[in-house]
Formats: sequence, structure tokens, C-alpha cells
Amino acid sequence: MTRISVSVDGTEAVDEVEPRTLLVQYLREQRGRTGTPVGCDTSNCGACTVLVDGRAVKSCALLAVQADGAEVTTIQGLANGELHPLQKAFHEHHALQCGYCTPGMIMAAVDLLDEVADPSEQQVREGLEGNLCRCTGYQNIVTAVRDAAAELRGATS
Ligand code: FES
Ligand code: FES
Repeated sequence: MTRISVSVDGTEAVDEVEPRTLLVQYLREQRGRTGTPVGCDTSNCGACTVLVDGRAVKSCALLAVQADGAEVTTIQGLANGELHPLQKAFHEHHALQCGYCTPGMIMAAVDLLDEVADPSEQQVREGLEGNLCRCTGYQNIVTAVRDAAAELRGATS
């Protein structure tokens, strides 16, 4: 076992993990972050995306020990008293059906909007191309991300 020290959704944690434990397993099983699902376990679908030090990462593609010392944010740490603008926009634009891809979509979109404040439709599609959705056809997701981008720009201008 290896001892790691990680901030998960703003809470500092020191835990023992096996060297082979994936970050997503650690988050779900030891930190109760079951809002982060495992979709494929082969780093294809993006459902497990979280932020590690502010950047979107597929948490099934990282070992927990690689997150030692990092700040990890999951979908469960995104709302700050009220829903994050992306969470609101996904709700308002019906950008989900089964919802399995949604946590990963939203976390990838947080990173995208951090990099590109006013993304075109094409930029949103490119930014989310590592995230698969089997239900929606993507159009409502793209609309929601651009709507949230506008709200965030309004909030920061
Ligand atoms: S579960 Fe990680 S990419 Fe699919
Ligand atoms: S809403 Fe079902 S996979 Fe995206």
C-alpha cells in the first residue's frame, strides 16, 4: 500500500491505496465520489473525467498514486451552494438523457471554458471529442456549453 495525500472536492485526504488502484476507483470507493461513473474503463468514453489541478483528465487512465499532492475536482465538488452554470445549462437545454456521460461532459467543458471563454460550435465539438454520448446526438450538449459560456462571461465581465 502507498500513502497519498489528495484534495478531493476541497477536502484534504490522506489515504492508503494499492499502487495499481485507478484514480476513478479511489474516488468512488474510498472518497465516495460516486457521481463520477465508469463508462468503459478503457479511456475511450470520457464518463470518468475529473479535474486534476484544474485540467480535465480521464480518471480511469490515471493511477491514484499519480494524483498524490494534487487537487482533484469531481462533479460533486462543482456546485457552490447553487448549480454551476454548466449544470444549470445542461438541465435547461435537456442536454442529457440517461445522464451517464454527463459528469464527464461537464468536467471536460469546465476545462474547455477555462481555456476558451467564447467557443464556437466547432470548438465545443472539438473540446468534447474525447467524451462519448450514446443518447443525445450532441446538439443539446453543444448548445448548453455555449449558453453556459455566455453566462460565465457575463459573470466575469
Ligand atoms: S470510464 Fe474512463 S474513459 Fe470511459
Ligand atoms: S445522456 Fe446517455 S450517454 Fe449521454
